[in-house]
Amino acid sequence: MTILGIETSCDETGIGILRDDKILCNIIATQEDIHSVYGGVVPELASRAHIERIDILFNKAIRESGVKVSDIDYIGVTKTPGLKGALLVGVSFAVGLAYSIRKPLYKVNHLYSHIASNFLNPEIKFPALGFVVSGGHTTFFYIKAPVSFETVGRTLDDACGETFDKVARMLHLGFPGGPYIEKMAEKGEETKIKFPVVLLGKTSLDFSFSGLKTAVLYYIKKNGLRDIQDICASFQKAVGDTLIEKTSRCLERYSVKSLLLGGGVVQNGYIRKRFHEFSDKKGIKLFIPDKKLCLDNGAMIAIMTSFLIKHGVSPSENTIEVLPT
Ligand code: KG4
Ligand code: ZN
Repeated sequence: MTILGIETSCDETGIGILRDDKILCNIIATQEDIHSVYGGVVPELASRAHIERIDILFNKAIRESGVKVSDIDYIGVTKTPGLKGALLVGVSFAVGLAYSIRKPLYKVNHLYSHIASNFLNPEIKFPALGFVVSGGHTTFFYIKAPVSFETVGRTLDDACGETFDKVARMLHLGFPGGPYIEKMAEKGEETKIKFPVVLLGKTSLDFSFSGLKTAVLYYIKKNGLRDIQDICASFQKAVGDTLIEKTSRCLERYSVKSLLLGGGVVQNGYIRKRFHEFSDKKGIKLFIPDKKLCLDNGAMIAIMTSFLIKHGVSPSENTIEVLPT
């Protein structure tokens, strides 16, 4: 079974090809060069870049994987959530391709697909707790089966990755901010500055990162940028404390056999280490995708599609719309 996965929900154009549960290729064209001057993703520019790149990427994926277009059995594409114009590029491309090669199309959820990046690992057991920590989302899912996701916690304001990006902008670092903050934090002291760990009461599974962001802003206003490495390390610790405490609450509330992480922030070595320490302590089996599968990519869309097929979910209609279902 050969599945083509297409991802264009934000600022990465991704094409992945999965054959019999093996990733043959996973090509990503980032748009960092385009958006970095603005310090954030500009939706119109993102859509245009997807349009310019998607067929080039598709042809490259076909060449690199050695798969013929006629070998593709199924097509999967991100339908939601994401930037509407950016999503439209991927969905339109996928609809046109599915129509021309007469193959079934699956329009899939981007967040579920971040979690699905782990699904090729046969050791995963369900029910599982899924946790997407990305530029646009900080969301917990109770996952009964690979195709049954229930949202049980989410951010009420800024997403975790968005907070990294905004703090990096305050510190005049580059975009996207996460990798720059991580690098700076390596040489800083994480206990130097006490930034708030916002928990929204004793039982909430939701997040609020705007208070942390504002605390960093006030700290910089008062003290300047002298101790930038300590700011980054202390900020990262506050984020880590928040993510771990909320995950711990989820595990108390939901009885699960696996903890599955996904999303761009999960590339962060410090956050990965905190989760490994936490899972060892709690005795919960932890799964984190390879770094290349954490960022938005086409392979994760193909993997999610393969699980929908295996669980007997019918293909989507071959129509162009990107509104949430
Ligand atoms: O999953 P993703 O590619 O896009 C969304 O679906 O939103 O995640 C992008 C986010 C950005 O906010 C970026 O700053 C963050 O992931 N990120 C990181 C790191 N690498 C990427 N955050 C913290 N540390 C990193 N090393
Ligand atoms: Zn994403």
